[in-house]
Amino acid sequence: MAVRSASEGILSDDNSSKRDELIELLKRSYWMEIETVMSYIANSINPDGVRAQEIIESLQADVQEELGHAQQFASRIKQLYGVVPGSLDFNAEQSYLQPPEHQTDIVHVIKGVIEAETGAIEHYNRIIEFTDGLDYVTQDMVIAILRDEEAHRRPFEGYLREYEVEGLA
Ligand SMILES: [Fe+2]
Ligand SMILES: [Fe+2]
Repeated sequence: MAVRSASEGILSDDNSSKRDELIELLKRSYWMEIETVMSYIANSINPDGVRAQEIIESLQADVQEELGHAQQFASRIKQLYGVVPGSLDFNAEQSYLQPPEHQTDIVHVIKGVIEAETGAIEHYNRIIEFTDGLDYVTQDMVIAILRDEEAHRRPFEGYLREYEVEGLA
């Protein structure tokens, strides 16, 4: 006898095409997190100067959180009967978080981090809307991740303000 699938929600047969769409959104999230891990590792090591230390410490902490997000997205992809993609499917997009010409260019890093967090916030808001009334488990998970991204962005806005006040950004 075939195993009965759920009659309601994202795991129901009726929602299989929505589920495929959602899996694609989750794969994109997974890659965004993975790329952010790479970019934050580099930018938590490269910067030079007294004022770089705060940025370095923030990004070091964020690396671990972004890695945790990537793992959560990967698990959810599997729970929805998708397959976590292999590394050959990866396409880098974060042009704005490449190492600056001068490693004392902290403003470049600050702006890059704000850009990455803003992109994540936009994409996760999209998933929260997409899953409304469809998949509350993914929605709940992504709301929690969105909370982290909003918390990651805020201090960098504050760092940027300091440079703006001094006419350096
Ligand atoms: Fe994240
Ligand atoms: Fe983040």
